[in-house]
Amino acid sequence: MWQCRGVTFLADALQLPHGSSWANRLALAPLTNTQSNDDGTLSDDEHDWLVARGRGGFGKVTTCAAYVDPAGQAWRGQLGVASDDHLPGLTRLAGSLRATGTRCAVQLHHGGRRADSALTGQALRAPWDDPKTGAVALSTGEVEAMVQSFVEAAVRSELAGFDGVEVHGAHGYLIGQFLDPRHERTDRYGGSLENRMRPLMEVLDGIRSATGPDFQVALRLTPEGNGITVAEGRETTREVLASGLLDCLDLSLWDVFMRPRGAVDAGAGEGLLIDHFTDLPRHGVGLGVAGLVQSAADAAWCLAKGVDFVTVGVGAILHHDFAARAIADPDFRVRERPVTRDVLRAEHVGPAFIDYLAAGWDDLVRIPPAGEPGPSGRCEAGARD
Ligand SMILES: Cc1cc2nc3c(=O)[nH]c(=O)nc-3n(C[C@H](O)[C@H](O)[C@H](O)COP(=O)(O)O)c2cc1C
Repeated sequence: MWQCRGVTFLADALQLPHGSSWANRLALAPLTNTQSNDDGTLSDDEHDWLVARGRGGFGKVTTCAAYVDPAGQAWRGQLGVASDDHLPGLTRLAGSLRATGTRCAVQLHHGGRRADSALTGQALRAPWDDPKTGAVALSTGEVEAMVQSFVEAAVRSELAGFDGVEVHGAHGYLIGQFLDPRHERTDRYGGSLENRMRPLMEVLDGIRSATGPDFQVALRLTPEGNGITVAEGRETTREVLASGLLDCLDLSLWDVFMRPRGAVDAGAGEGLLIDHFTDLPRHGVGLGVAGLVQSAADAAWCLAKGVDFVTVGVGAILHHDFAARAIADPDFRVRERPVTRDVLRAEHVGPAFIDYLAAGWDDLVRIPPAGEPGPSGRCEAGARD
C-alpha cells in the first residue's frame, strides 16, 4: 500500500450516507459491453466481465447502462432491468459481485431520442419533438410514467440484491435531454432549470422513497457538454448534492485534466473543469470523477484535487485488477495500446465486447488480420459531447 500527497488515499474506505462502506476509492465505470442476450437478460460473458472487476479490487462495480423501459433500449446486447424476466440474471450477478467484497449497482438508463427504434420497434420519444431524429415529445403523463419506470427498475435492482443504483443523467440520454436548455417544452418539465431538473429529481425522490434505508442512490452527470454550460452544470450539481437524496455523484468529464470548453462565470478563475465542482458543499455525498485515469498517479491526483472517489473505464478494460494494482503500486500505469484480442480475453473481456471496442475505439484493439469478421455497432463511447 502507498500514500498520495493529499489527505485521502486510494486504499481508504468510503462511507456514504446509506449502506455499507466501499473498501477503497476506486470505482468501475459503467461500460456498455453489448454482451447481454437479445432479451436483455444477463449472459455468462457479462457476468464474468463484471465479477472479474470485483475480484480485481474495485470498491464499487456498476453495470453498463441498463434500460429501464424497452422503449429506451439503445444498443443491441444491452442489459435490461425493465422486467421481472431480468431478475434471475441480475440476482445471480449481484450475488457473485457481493461475494467479491465490492459494492455493486445497476446503472439505470433510457436512451430517449438516442434509443434505437430498429431495436425497440417503437417511435423514438424525447422531451421535445426532434426533427433530426424524428423523436416525438413525451406528454406530461408519459414523463410521469417514465419516472415510474426508473423507480421500478431501482426496486427490481434492490430485490436482486444490488447495494444500489446509479441514475444515468449524463451523455445526452433521456434524463440529460431534459437538462439540455436548447429545447423547449411548456409543461412543468420544461423551461427553467428547476423544471428541466424535475424529471431527475422525481426519479431520485421516487427511488429513495421506494427503497430501503441501506440502498445507495448514485447519479451520473455531464457537468459540461450536451448543451449544458459550466454555470448550469454547477447549479445542477449544487442542487443534487443538497437534495438529501443521493449517496454519490459521478461527474463524467471524459478527461479529468481538461479545461472547460465553454465560457465560465467572471471570477470563476482559470481552473480545470474539475475545479468548478470540488468546492461545492457536499452534505456527505461522495463526489467522483471519470475520464482518462490511466495510472495510480492519475487516480491519486484526482483525490488530491478533492474528490472522494475515482471512476475508471478503459483502464479497467485493460486490467481487470486496475484497482488492486493502483493501490499496491504508485508507479502502476496501464499497458500500451492497442492490445490484442488475446490480451483482452485474458482480462475477461468477451468476444462481443471486443468487437464493440474495435468498432468504437480504434486505438484500443489491434486491427484484426484481413479475413477476420469486422465489428459493427453503435457506441455509447461515441457520446463524448
Ligand atoms: C466502451 C465504453 C462503454 C461505455 N459505456 C458507458 C455506459 O454504459 N454508461 C456510462 O455512463 N458511460 C459509459 N462510458 C463512459 C465511461 O463510463 C467513462 O466515463 C469514460 O470511458 C471515461 O473514462 P475512462 O477514460 O477511464 O475510460 C463508456 C465508455 C466506454 C469506453
